[in-house]
Amino acid sequence: MGNNILLTGGLGYIGSHTAVELILAGYEPIILDNLANSKVEVLDQIEKITQKKIPFFQGDVRDEEALQSIFSAHAIQGVIHFAALKSVGDSVLQPLSYFDVNVGGLTQLLKSMQKFRVEKLIFSSSCTVYGQPTDGWAVSESTPLQEPTSPYGRTKRMNEEMIHDICQTSRLSAVFLRYFNPVGAHPSGLIGELPLGVPANLVPFLTQTVAGKRDALTIFGNDYSTPDGTCIRDYIHVVDLAKAHVGALGFETIPHHPEIFNVGTGKGSSVLEVISAFERATGMKVPYEIGPKRQGDVMAVFANAQKISEKLQWNPQYSLEDMMEHAWNWEKNQN
Ligand code: NAD
Ligand code: UFG
Repeated sequence: MGNNILLTGGLGYIGSHTAVELILAGYEPIILDNLANSKVEVLDQIEKITQKKIPFFQGDVRDEEALQSIFSAHAIQGVIHFAALKSVGDSVLQPLSYFDVNVGGLTQLLKSMQKFRVEKLIFSSSCTVYGQPTDGWAVSESTPLQEPTSPYGRTKRMNEEMIHDICQTSRLSAVFLRYFNPVGAHPSGLIGELPLGVPANLVPFLTQTVAGKRDALTIFGNDYSTPDGTCIRDYIHVVDLAKAHVGALGFETIPHHPEIFNVGTGKGSSVLEVISAFERATGMKVPYEIGPKRQGDVMAVFANAQKISEKLQWNPQYSLEDMMEHAWNWEKNQN
């Protein structure tokens, strides 16, 4: 059995970190990316970190011929499907693009995998499928899912359901990784998140503010029913998240039964706690103000991460301070 793993969207934030960890674990990543939200230079950075050449195909996951050329040229053992559009706000404005890329992309990928008899798939899902949990703030893989609150969330739910259905009548072995909030960057400072325009997410907005690119961070609401009034999330270092994919690839699933793993630390942090962790880790002050609540925000959610710890022996290594320190190193390298 070969070690070739296709990473769709492999030049993106999570895909690039996963490519590095796959190489360290002895796999050979092959990347397909249409550069819709990444730059080809990321490939050089991955190669700099790993000292390995990585086959790269610039193309669209919806393009049958692009997939055909990869599956014909390389014996692919498994696929990690990152390629997607991921902005919640954008998805409300442009729902059709999200259905096209996220649902259409997975449909074409599954067709091509079936044709070339590639039977292992790791899918990038999201804790957004849980919505605001009604019975405590910690969610396990068996917590009932909520009605999606955005077209983006709906595509993730639909993607999970599509894969589930395909598994019923095929030999496809599938793992859904439900990511919580990935933040930070590679400790080398060579790869990280490349937000387009004004960042919608907390940590890139925070680091850009401290770097002087934004005036102040607005905290979206401080009168939630949480200990300090700000929202709670489970922030996970992107390198720890990347390592979970290595574990998932080695996992033997039960036939016709996609396996689901939450990937979070199991610890919730408030927005104010993130800001203090950043200040402790870097010695820099974060200018912030309190603004109104952001529409659609979940008040509090974090992972019950017991299953992934037990079944994949995966446990996060990095603290919230490490996440902030690495996010800041990365920000300082941008310009
Ligand atoms: P990203 O935008 O950095 O990476 C996605 C990559 O896919 C980009 O390089 C982009 O150019 C590429 N891509 C987009 N459309 C494509 C297409 N049609 N064909 C080929 N390539 C295409 O995003 P990310 O943060 O690395 O997220 C990766 C996956 O994880 C996505 O599926 C996302 O929905 C999911 N996810 C992300 C988060 C998060 O907060 N970052 C949370 C939960 C789930
Ligand atoms: N926040 C602020 N100010 C900002 C940005 C964010 O206070 O400028 C707060 C938000 O209100 C939230 C927390 O910081 O409480 C985290 O917000 P993010 O936008 O970074 O992350 P979300 O949890 O809202 O969203 C993320 C991904 C989505 C995904 C969702 C659930 O960005 O793609 O997790 O999986 F759908």
